[in-house]
Amino acid sequence: MRVTVRHIREMKRLGQKIPVLTAYDNSSAQIVERAGVPLILVGDSLGQVVLGHDSTVPVTMEDMLHHTKAVVRSTSRALIVADLPFMSYQADRQEAMRNAGRLLQEGGAQAVKLEGGTRVASTVRRIVEAGIPVMGHIGLTPQSINQLGGYRVQGKTSREGARLLEDALDLEAAGAFAIVLELVPTPLASLVTQQLRVPTIGIGAGAGCDGQVLVLHDMLGLTTDFKPRHAKRYVEAAQVMQKAVERFMEEVQLGTFPAGEHTTTMGESLLPEPSRRGRFELPSV
Ligand code: KIV
Repeated sequence: MRVTVRHIREMKRLGQKIPVLTAYDNSSAQIVERAGVPLILVGDSLGQVVLGHDSTVPVTMEDMLHHTKAVVRSTSRALIVADLPFMSYQADRQEAMRNAGRLLQEGGAQAVKLEGGTRVASTVRRIVEAGIPVMGHIGLTPQSINQLGGYRVQGKTSREGARLLEDALDLEAAGAFAIVLELVPTPLASLVTQQLRVPTIGIGAGAGCDGQVLVLHDMLGLTTDFKPRHAKRYVEAAQVMQKAVERFMEEVQLGTFPAGEHTTTMGESLLPEPSRRGRFELPSV
């Protein structure tokens, strides 16, 4: 039985912090679920950390479906939330509903996430009315990077702060079951958290949020070219993996890999005899 959106809302009521991590494939999903993380986000951050794009903008519905299916197949307990990618919900509400439906029906996710506040609230309402749980995402919204002009903290002026609070309240009223607050000053994120009944999940938004989300590759130290300040690195996995690959190279070149324990043996007498024509002949049974 998987965690449900009701469980996630209940965690806020009980004052339990909500850990959230991204995952995009079989091994990452299994590691995250085995640790007991209740909510796994198949984020469109896969555009950067898995597919090698320089933003989330090029990510397509097909990319999201492909990776969502892999994460769903590899897990059985966590709630799986899949990102609606750029331009899958902005142009028209019918299309938004159809695409949200695909992530559940074809991808197997239990909920979707989309970016934006008041301007997408009516879309959120329609998707929720169709029976699809929606997670909101405000503050820094990476799909709008071309408009924002950089990955900067949002809501630093009182006007921007008031706008962010309105966005959050409109998403809650539209039926969002949780809201991601990305790169928002800590006091503002705490205020938004206090004003909402639904949980806030912070990323670069301080400890006052109800939960915390990190991109798995950032917290594992797998991303080497981009090190966001908010993303604590719990291990330098890229360095560990690099060293392992170098040892493999060396051992193959030296002939020390494979060793006895990595191989299968057989009696020498059972080896086929080369025939006179230089071919190997099958023994007659
Ligand atoms: O795509 C993603 O991984 C996200 C998180 C950063 C919240 O949206």
